[in-house]
Parts: sequence; structure tokens; C-alpha cells
Amino acid sequence: MKMSQLLESMTLKEKIGQLLQLAPFFFKHTLKGEVTGHMEDLGISAEDIFLAGSVLGIGGAKEMKELQTTYLAQSRHLIPLLFMADIIHGYRTIFPVPLALAGSFNTELVEATARTAAKEASVSGVHVTFSPMVDLVRDPRWGRVMESGGEDPFLNAVMAKAYVRGYQGDSLNNPFNVASCVKHFAAYGAPEGGRDYNTVDLSKRALYEWYLPAYEAALEEGAHMVMTAFNVVDGVPATGNQTLLKKLLREDWRFEGVIISDYSAVEEMIDHGYSADQKEAARQAIEATLDIEMMSACYIKHLEALVQEGRVDVTLIDEAVTRIVTLKEKLGLFENPFKTADETKEKTIHLAPEHRLLAKQAALESIVLLENDGVLPLNQACKIALIGPYAEERSILGPWSWQGRLDEAITLAEGLASQVFSEQMMIHQGCTLDGEIGDLEETIMIVQQADVCVLALGEPSHFSGEGGSRTNIKLPQEQERLALEVMATGTPTVLVLFNGRPLEIEHLTTQANAVLEAWFPGTEGGSALAEILFGHVNPSGKLPMSFPRNVGQIPVYYNHLNTGRPIKRSMYYRYESHYLDCSNEPLYPFGYGLSYSHFTLTDFSSPKHAKIGDPIQVSVTLTNQSERTGSTVVQLYVRDLSASVVRPVKELKAFKKVTLLPGEINTITLVLKAEAFSFYNQELRLVVEPGLFDLMVGLDSKSVLVKRLALTD
Ligand code: BGC
Repeated sequence: MKMSQLLESMTLKEKIGQLLQLAPFFFKHTLKGEVTGHMEDLGISAEDIFLAGSVLGIGGAKEMKELQTTYLAQSRHLIPLLFMADIIHGYRTIFPVPLALAGSFNTELVEATARTAAKEASVSGVHVTFSPMVDLVRDPRWGRVMESGGEDPFLNAVMAKAYVRGYQGDSLNNPFNVASCVKHFAAYGAPEGGRDYNTVDLSKRALYEWYLPAYEAALEEGAHMVMTAFNVVDGVPATGNQTLLKKLLREDWRFEGVIISDYSAVEEMIDHGYSADQKEAARQAIEATLDIEMMSACYIKHLEALVQEGRVDVTLIDEAVTRIVTLKEKLGLFENPFKTADETKEKTIHLAPEHRLLAKQAALESIVLLENDGVLPLNQACKIALIGPYAEERSILGPWSWQGRLDEAITLAEGLASQVFSEQMMIHQGCTLDGEIGDLEETIMIVQQADVCVLALGEPSHFSGEGGSRTNIKLPQEQERLALEVMATGTPTVLVLFNGRPLEIEHLTTQANAVLEAWFPGTEGGSALAEILFGHVNPSGKLPMSFPRNVGQIPVYYNHLNTGRPIKRSMYYRYESHYLDCSNEPLYPFGYGLSYSHFTLTDFSSPKHAKIGDPIQVSVTLTNQSERTGSTVVQLYVRDLSASVVRPVKELKAFKKVTLLPGEINTITLVLKAEAFSFYNQELRLVVEPGLFDLMVGLDSKSVLVKRLALTD
């Protein structure tokens, strides 16, 4: 049926139903004829439920097929339900959390993880994933930094594209492809004080320069959906924000896909103080061109009356329905409402051996070596004391891994056990994850008998993720005590950290002989860590977000402005921008991560002059001065020395991940196109201005080689 005919044949109530998204349990309860709990809270009838156009989350192919069948049996127009879910870093095979994956600096790898997640999710009946989450982050107190690509807009943008390519493939209609919903539009990653759902107050400049590029990149790559953020943007909740949705997204960026609210965010506009009641919230959201209302009922309860009263133009609803039905068409749901859902395929595809291998590779490339005095890699014959609450802990999958199973995760103990004889390893928990200390004397005795201690500490998984904001980003107190006691024994200690955010750990890292940041490494975390600890694989991950020295430094990020009083250590030092009690520098900067190889960069060469628009080719010699094959990331930063709007001290504009054999010397070439020099001017137009630029190349954002470039018209 043609869209216009379909719209004509639908009642207003049926159209509004398409705009409602509910969780699957609503449908099940309705089948039993109960109207209780959440359903009662939402105040919707059993009839409304069967008008809903999409479902939030689904337990698997069987459940999806049953639900779709029951639904279609009651549907006048046979418009299939659309099933959406949060497939954030894997479905059944769980990859490292997105923050960790960003640190791989490997877009092909990230694309492959998204591809695999899509395959596993699609056979379980999922059509849309609420991913990627591309909210730029600068505050590790916010628990959701683990879902993001970190503090850099360029890295965030390239990763956003990689996820979209991986999920959507060539065409949505093909099996195993799911539609990507980029979120949370916009600037959800900048809540004041790092407190989840809190106020976001950014200048337009900050929004355009830092926060918007990654969403725009995901849309350029063809993401079919956008989810709005819970927060306000310039005083207006994103969910009802016409400037953001109607003007920027629809008009300026020409986004024709579906916009969905975050969970109950339409109704939350009342608590924000933007909408007087549900009816006003419904009007404000539809006028902002928000298509689907997730898990609140303002549309279903009030849009009909708003149209009848002449307060909402029915074409707004028709347009929303058209966008939703078009997405269903693109996914091929009208030909086959079950699409790829298949219980038999679930058995072979979920956690397939090649998916596990990919999970291991992803963990290997995400783990970051923060410190190493030479204790790593470990000698395979050494006697190891494996201490700490993460030694045998299975909950290393990280938040948003609802289909991942803990019993399928490889623990650190299991990983190590596969590499050494059992007599070589002594395991002791030391304390619990939440920090209840065990028998400390026994722990110390074990450590003293060992050649090396691998100390596995971290945040419990629920400390990060949604609602996981903290003002204290140290390890739980008793874990710290355990660490200090263990390190005081003098047994060389390798600290392995499991966590979802940069932590405050300076007091520990200065005493440990080596520190490995494992993040939440996913299903194959333990096996990947063992490979790295024994040196079978050389660590290559880099930090996507700076580690502060203490919470008082937050926000601390590499691409800051210079200020009028940068540190020069002059005789007027007091009046240079700094703290009296702490360095300005983070503990570990963006882009940082060590290797067992020793890499050097020399012979940086770049043109001295160029015309705006000319591609600028730079080259640098990378040498692996070691006897091990290793990989590192060559990073190219740009600084515009003077411009009509002040520019950051460094901005990442290109990078290349390179693997070199022992002693190998390689010339690395990177190309900067015009956009690498562009910025939003005072009128918020993207421009490139002539002038002097510093080009900087490094293996992290701090230690760089510099060349000057003059750009002319
Ligand atoms: C989160 C979203 C998520 C949604 C649906 C919300 O609470 O903020 O990121 O996609 O729930 O699960």
C-alpha cells in the first residue's frame, strides 16, 4: 500500500499508536487482561497497548515472534512492530565497553564488533540498536563515560561512523543488519558536576565545536535514528527543543529518519518545568518533530484531543508516522515481520567461536599499559600471587551487557591458569569488591611467597553506567588498603584495574611496578589479560580520556584553551593559571599508553607553507627500538596560533595505528584536509582562516614534535 493510502485508511488514534514505544511486558500483561503496575502508572488501556508501534527490548527470537504474531493478529493494517534494544558493546558476546574500544584507535575493529553485535541481536529479533552513544565526556564522575568515545570530538566522530557502518551494513533490508540510533542528542555527556540527568549549560560554541560533531558524523554515515537527551540544552529540554530537533537536525542537517525520546523523557519535561502537564509536553514534543515517545504516555493520551482542538496540526503526526513506517519498510518488515529472528540461528550465532576471538582481539587492543618498570611481561615460570576481588570475578562485562552471561566470561584467574601450571599460582581474594577486607595476614603471607603479585582491583560494575555518578573516583577504601599492604611487602606488584571511568589512582600507581588498565574488558577479558601479562601480545591501547590526579582537577582534558595566563614559570608565577596544590596536568593524558616495545618518533617533516584547501601531507619516522613486535598509534595534532576565535592548544586531526617488527623503521604519512584547520567563527560558520599553525606529532597528546605551517588564501 502506498504511504498516502495507508495514512488515509488509519484512524487518528491508530496513527498516534505508532508513536508509542512500550516494553514487552506490557503486551504480555495485557494478554492476561491485567492492567497493573507500570501500565496503571502510565494510565493507558489494553487497547492503547496494541496500537503501539514499537517495543523496547526483547528477550530473544521466540519471544519476539510470539509477540509479533499476537500483535499482527489484532492489527487492522498489519503494520509490524519494530523491536529496539540497547546493544551497546555486544549482544551475547560482550566486547569491551565503548570507552575502552575507543582506546583501541582501531576503527575497523570497532566496526567489526558492531557488525557482530548486529548479527547476534538480529537473530534474536532486534531491528534497531540504541547505539552508538557518542556523547563527548570530560567528567569521569559521570558513570556513563564508559558508554562514550571519550573526550575528543575527532576520535568520537570516527568511532561513531565505525559503529554505524558495522550495525547497518550496506542495506537495512539485508539479514543481520540493524538500524542504528545515535544518542543522546544533545550534549548529555556534560551534566553539571558529573551528576547523571543534571543540567547541561553550554555555550553555543562549546556545543558546536565539541559536542555536535560526533552526532553529525553518525548521521553522515547514515544512522536511521536519533535519541534525544534527558537534559536541557540552552534552557529547553532536548526532547521538546525545536532549535535542536526541528531546526538543527531536520532543517540544517536534513535528517529524515526517526527521532525517539529517551525513557519517559517526554513526561519528564513537566519536572524540568518546561511543560505544565502531559498535554503540553505532548504538544511541545510533536512540534519539535519528535516521532516516538519511549515509555511515557503523553502522546497516546493527549495528541488526539490536541488535534481535535486544533492545537496540533495533524500533518505533524502524519509526518512522524511516515518516518516510522518508512523505517519498518526499509528493514523489510512488511515482507517478513520476523526478519532474521530465528531460534535455531541463535544457537549457532550467539557466542560463535569467531565472535569470541573478536572479543579477545578487541580486549587485547583496548587494554592500556599505564606503568611498567620492567616487571612486565611476566616470566612464564614465575610464581604468581593473584590477589584481589577481581581475581576470580566474572562480572567483568560492564554495564549494558544484559544478554551477556557472567558464566561465559573468562576471569583473570582462568586466563592465567591457561598459561601456567597450577602450582605456580596462588589465588586470594583479599577483600570483596565493595571493600570488605578478608584475612589480611593470610593475603600478605601468600604475596611474600610469590615472585610477583598480580593485584586485580577495580570498581564494581554498578559503580558506573546509567545512574552511576560518583564524587569519589578512588577505588573502594578497603581495596586501597589491600593494595598498600600488598605493595609494602616488596614483592613486585602488577596492578590490573577493572573499571568504567578514569579513576583517581596516583597514590597507587606511584608504588606499583606496573599498571594495566583493563576497563570492563568483556567476555574474553581474562584470556586477553593473560596474553598481555605474559607478553604473547604487546599492549597497544591508548587512553581516550585523561586520568585526573584528583577530583579537584575535573574537568581536565587535553584540548583546552591556552588562557591569557598560561604557565610560563615567570617571576609572576602566582598569577599564571595554575593550582597551588596540584599540577595542571592530568596523571595520564589523552592518547597515552605504553608498550613493551620502545618506540621513537624522529624526522618529522611537513610543508612550511600551503594554500588553504591544499591537502597537507606530513611524515615522521617511527622506530621500534626493541626486540618485540609492537603496535602504537601515531597521533597528529593541530594548533591554530591566532584566529578570530581562540583555539585549543591541541586538537587531534589524524592518527594511524601501526605495527612494527623488532628494530623496524617505518615512515608514517598522514594527510590533513582543509577541515583539519577549520573552526566555527563568531557567527558559528565553519571557516578556515589564514595564519600560522603548529602541527604536532606524538605517541600521546603530551610529548610531541612540532612543525610550523603558514596557511595562505
Ligand atoms: C537510557 C538510554 C537507553 C534507554 C532505553 C535510558 O534510560 O538513557 O540510553 O537507550 O534507557 O533502554
